[in-house]
Amino acid sequence: MDTGTGVDMAVLAEMARKAADSAYAPYSRYKVGAALLADDGRVFTGCNIENASYGLTNCAERTAVFKAVSEGARCFRAIAIAGGDDEPATPCGACRQVLAEFCGPETPVMCVALSGDAVREYTLGELLPGVFHLR
Ligand code: THU
Repeated sequence: MDTGTGVDMAVLAEMARKAADSAYAPYSRYKVGAALLADDGRVFTGCNIENASYGLTNCAERTAVFKAVSEGARCFRAIAIAGGDDEPATPCGACRQVLAEFCGPETPVMCVALSGDAVREYTLGELLPGVFHLR
């Protein structure tokens, strides 16, 4: 799928898989990577970063969003997420809400397993109906 930036979803998925190599997951041993495509063509990757105080763990998706926003990106075309062996990881509820702050409901979310061919494609709106917005 073309995202309108010259970066296609398959490339984004490979970047997410590579980002998972940097995961710091000594507690769960569950590595996740994400690759977030900005509308200017930049790609921001992220991995999960766990903490001995478990609740302080940051997911791969939020790492990517926070890196991107801190570098001035605000609008995104797509995100790919890589995690899981057979069944691809899908973003947790907190990450869905954080993504919805910066991405519209039509934004493609591609979830791939770390190994194997399993691919699940969603839109953010499918993953988070009834998103909370302050208006
Ligand atoms: N995790 C992510 O990074 N993204 C997800 O979408 C789901 C879960 C991480 C958090 C934790 O480090 C590990 O996966 C197990 O929950």
